[in-house]
Amino acid sequence: MKIISVVGARPNFMKIAPFIRAIEAHNRVASEKIEHILVHTGQHYDKTLSQSFFEALNIPEADVNLHIGSGTHAEQVGYTMIAFEKLLQKERPDWVVVVGDVNATLACSVEAKKELINVCHIEAGLRSGDMTMPEEINRLVTDRLADLLLTPDEMSSENLRKEGVEEQKIKFVGNIMIDTLEANREKAAALSLEEILENNAVNEMYGQPLKTYTLMTMHRPSNVDHKEILEPLIDFLLNEVAASSPLIWPVHPRAEKQLNAFGLWDKVYSHPNVILLKPVGYHEMLKMNRGARILLTDSGGLQEECTVLGTPCLTLRWNTERPITLRKYGGASVLVGNEIEKIRKAYHETLALDVQPLRPNLWDGHTAERCLKAILDI
Ligand code: UD1
Repeated sequence: MKIISVVGARPNFMKIAPFIRAIEAHNRVASEKIEHILVHTGQHYDKTLSQSFFEALNIPEADVNLHIGSGTHAEQVGYTMIAFEKLLQKERPDWVVVVGDVNATLACSVEAKKELINVCHIEAGLRSGDMTMPEEINRLVTDRLADLLLTPDEMSSENLRKEGVEEQKIKFVGNIMIDTLEANREKAAALSLEEILENNAVNEMYGQPLKTYTLMTMHRPSNVDHKEILEPLIDFLLNEVAASSPLIWPVHPRAEKQLNAFGLWDKVYSHPNVILLKPVGYHEMLKMNRGARILLTDSGGLQEECTVLGTPCLTLRWNTERPITLRKYGGASVLVGNEIEKIRKAYHETLALDVQPLRPNLWDGHTAERCLKAILDI
């Protein structure tokens, strides 16, 4: 059997690492080996967003890099399809495996189906219901086309059933991100926070020992692409969050670009309690997440990691495709959108809470094996 699996952007790397490991384990014992080709579309190309994750998670170098790079959604999807079509015609795999919801996920699943190749989607069935999110469009199209839809939780399986997906295509396997989290917990715990800050510092180093801190990440267009949204958020973060405890912020390139464009970069950069970092590696983020008193983020993956780690999380979005991570379902996160009054209220309420780790069904570190088995069973 020949499988091509595809990654494009940062959140894909932690999902593909355990899947590759599962193939390697299979090939060590099985008489019929799987031929595996790893394709990187090259959507994320900075060392901090891409190569450093390959190294940290022991992902073998991609067999093929399509070097798509930055661009509009249409450019990224279009260039990926053109390059991927040629590759599929040359390789003719039995399966194309896509993960998550980035532009690579959409482009490669469309192209695979046009070449009459089976598509397996790992992390299928997530729905935010928000059609202004590029990722929601990517999820819908990918799931409409996929032949095997591997879901992280029962709610996602139910979403697919409601959309009319045939039962035999849906398989609940658990959350593959948690395989990576469990495999890397100890290594992350052994890191020194001071060294992480020192090695990734963007602004003046914070002078005192860190006892407690807030952690944040933000990159979604809905938060960073409009000055009238970003500016009040920044004012709240600087004047109210960073005023009471140090704020660690690894800055995504999109956020940095927009802060500069809106003339907000200098005040963030020069705030004495804001610790600006370059985008950090997987273990570094895991270490900082575990130690944070609270995390503010618009990332879906971090919401899930907070749930398993028990870190109180404010999700800077109005909706989520991952409701299982919400406090009302026992998780660690609460949706606060980008309205300051709502964020302020939730922030103070959350500081007083004792959030316990939650392990949803099958978030057990063995999802990748179930994913591979589901493919082999067909
Ligand atoms: C993408 C994903 C999103 C994911 C996020 C995590 C899509 C539609 N979105 O969003 O789901 O949560 O990655 O990081 O696929 N840039 C660099 N260096 C890089 C890559 C990008 O400087 O290595 C710059 C680009 O020029 C662009 C900005 O960062 O200005 C955004 O990159 P882009 O790939 O468009 O999407 P993300 O916002 O990263």
